[in-house]
Amino acid sequence: MLAATAPGKAILFGEHAVVYGRPALAVPVTQVQATATLAPGSNGFWIDAPDLGRRYQLDTSDPGDPLAAAVALVAERAGGQPLPPAVLRVTSTIPIASGLGSGAAVATAVVRVLDAWLHLGLEPADISALVFETEKLLHGTPSGIDNTVIAFGQPVHFIKGHPPEPIHPARPFQLLIGDTGRPSPTKVTVGDVRAAFERDPERLSRLFDEIGAIAAGARREIESGQPEALGPLMTQNHALLRELGVSSVELDALVDRACAAGAGGAKLSGGGRGGNMLALVDDDSMGPVKGALLAAGALRVIATRVE
Ligand code: PMV
Repeated sequence: MLAATAPGKAILFGEHAVVYGRPALAVPVTQVQATATLAPGSNGFWIDAPDLGRRYQLDTSDPGDPLAAAVALVAERAGGQPLPPAVLRVTSTIPIASGLGSGAAVATAVVRVLDAWLHLGLEPADISALVFETEKLLHGTPSGIDNTVIAFGQPVHFIKGHPPEPIHPARPFQLLIGDTGRPSPTKVTVGDVRAAFERDPERLSRLFDEIGAIAAGARREIESGQPEALGPLMTQNHALLRELGVSSVELDALVDRACAAGAGGAKLSGGGRGGNMLALVDDDSMGPVKGALLAAGALRVIATRVE
């Protein structure tokens, strides 16, 4: 049997401003992952997705099914021959619809296991491009940040419409990801920011410029081995996101409590209003900050190391 995995992801800096052409940084979250296994079968090609309670044959899948789409794209890449009989099993520990990239991670794990099975020798950029096709089925107009950060498995610097650039931290750093437990409809906050931008383009452009400058500065700190400098940048980015109107009482409380408990800085991550926040921690502050987040109402706290 063959197996492959792919991590989750979090946006570290630049959400919302990235929609308006400013840079953003995203990091893989390796402590949660999607897994795809492939075992030889006897009767056609089956997809088994126990987390979704589904088991179905590739030939009979729905036209918009993202798992079947990932399989079909790789099969086409392999020359378009019918696939030998097999069972592809997909599982994931990444919370669904929480901004942690579960869809792109599942597709990446599928592409990787099929790549190994069919001996295609795909590079991360090829995998990212195939997963981007499946993301389009799910999200319509994805920016491409999720498939890139997940397929490369390393932090990326991303500007809409430009090839994303993987970045290499000179020193590793640790984050805690606190979930407010409130579903985060990214479409709604993106729409609200659009309405605010149309009302007052000058003010919003200034906020986007400040956020973009923070993301650019953060990249330099990561690449030059000063990750502790990210803390104040995170807290500044959060203040600007509050001004954009995409924070919430819950997110502000988690950010404030994380900082009071010793985090180097903290911010909301992703669309906002609900979903997740990030706190920069070290070995000493990790325990107290995790305790403070849970005491302040976080549904779950994931620790991850970025390297
Ligand atoms: O909630 P997530 O992780 O899908 O991130 C949304 C990021 C936004 O900048 C708000 C929207 C976007 O398309 O980039």
